[in-house]
Amino acid sequence: MKRFDLGRVWIRQLLFAAVAIAVAIGPVVVLAHGVATAQIQDYISHRRQAAEFEAGQVIAADAQMNGWSDIGQLLPRLAQVTGERIVLTNAGGQVVADSAQQVKPGAKAPRLPDAHQLRIVSPTGTLLGVATLTPSPALINSASRNNFAGIVADALLVAAGASFVVALLLSFVLSHTITGPITAVISAARKLQRGDLGARVKVAASGELAELAHSFNAMADGLDEANQQRQQMVADVAHELRTPLTILRGYLEALADGVIAPTPDALRGVHTEAVHLQHLVEDLQDLALAESKQLVMDRTAVEVPGLVRGIVDGFALQAREKNIDLSAAFEGQVPTITGDARRLGEVLRNLVANALAYTPAGGRVDVRVRPTQEGGVEVAVADTGIGIGPQDLANVFERFYRTDKSRTRATGGAGLGLTIAKRLVEAHGGRIGVESEPGRGSRFWFTLPAPS
Ligand SMILES: Nc1ncnc2c1ncn2[C@@H]1O[C@H](COP(=O)(O)OP(=O)(O)OP(=O)(O)O)[C@@H](O)[C@H]1O
Ligand SMILES: [Mg+2]
Repeated sequence: MKRFDLGRVWIRQLLFAAVAIAVAIGPVVVLAHGVATAQIQDYISHRRQAAEFEAGQVIAADAQMNGWSDIGQLLPRLAQVTGERIVLTNAGGQVVADSAQQVKPGAKAPRLPDAHQLRIVSPTGTLLGVATLTPSPALINSASRNNFAGIVADALLVAAGASFVVALLLSFVLSHTITGPITAVISAARKLQRGDLGARVKVAASGELAELAHSFNAMADGLDEANQQRQQMVADVAHELRTPLTILRGYLEALADGVIAPTPDALRGVHTEAVHLQHLVEDLQDLALAESKQLVMDRTAVEVPGLVRGIVDGFALQAREKNIDLSAAFEGQVPTITGDARRLGEVLRNLVANALAYTPAGGRVDVRVRPTQEGGVEVAVADTGIGIGPQDLANVFERFYRTDKSRTRATGGAGLGLTIAKRLVEAHGGRIGVESEPGRGSRFWFTLPAPS
């Protein structure tokens, strides 16, 4: 990232702050300067009027006391007080004196631009002469006026500059309190991208930034967990495939070496393992499709009692061989539902096969169909088998989960049947569950919603 990239939050915020401060302070400075200058000018013009009046009095008194004999020295000093050039003419219109000493006494009064006149009269009211006053920038008063305005302008500029700097500093600090946590999230995201799934953000404050950090950490947790599940899944699949493949390989090597003869029995053993493998791979594929929600469903109207009857009849022989009493019961009037009959059959076959597998000889397996209160259908498979302990009950629907960890494929399946059943039932909008008591039996059930 470039150092001064306009896209960076703190630079943008600083620019915004600078513009906002300039917009807020600028008019105040201009207005204050204008008002102060006007006030100063007002004050100075009052002062000048008073000074001019005084000057008129002094000139009149001087005329009476010594007939303007020393007016040449007096006039420049009066000019300093009023801040104006003063040209004094007598009643006859001839110049008596000029404070700027440009016009000679006795000359005709000059025409001066911007001039105004002050009549010099004696206490008795006779006109003694006329003083012509013109503003003179060279004189002290007007310089002090400029000085005044300059001082006010300087003070305003210093105040504005100082508040601008302080405001910028504050906004810089503020922007860093915002960009700090964002930068932390960015750097943690980069670590995640590089494969460091342990990267997390420290959550210090509260508010939106803390929420951002929390959400990021939750996302990282999710990724971490998904990654661990994936690794576990690959390990489990490899483990499940290893056993049938080892058996197959053993058979084939023994056949090739002539250790066993290729009799129909031996070949049937090879075939059984191949079928096992094929089922496992099919189960895995179903599971992968169901978990990625890509399972294609062939939805039709399904009569659940008919479906259940067919499947229970299909298991009759197996139940008789194991000496288990398998029965089906139908309660009330159940609605026709919409679903994939083949997949729903798969769910029920899985439950019945489990019930028969985990129920000892002499036990009972009852399949019961009944309407639910919500207008759907419930199918339950209850057995009098070994049951499931409370610590296993919550996990039996997890893939590859088997309550007896030491059990091999010879004594049971891969632990995928219930996982697939759960996914299929959920894909139909239904729910699946189990109640069980170790040593007394289990009751697996699933519901399917009424057609909408
Ligand atoms: N009716 C039951 N009684 C007792 N335990 C059961 C019952 N049904 C399932 N279980 C337990 O739950 C585990 C998971 O069952 P699931 O059907 O998923 O796998 P599996 O039968 O072992 O293998 P698969 O069905 O993939 O061939 C079983 O291994 C078993 O320990
Ligand atoms: Mg099973």
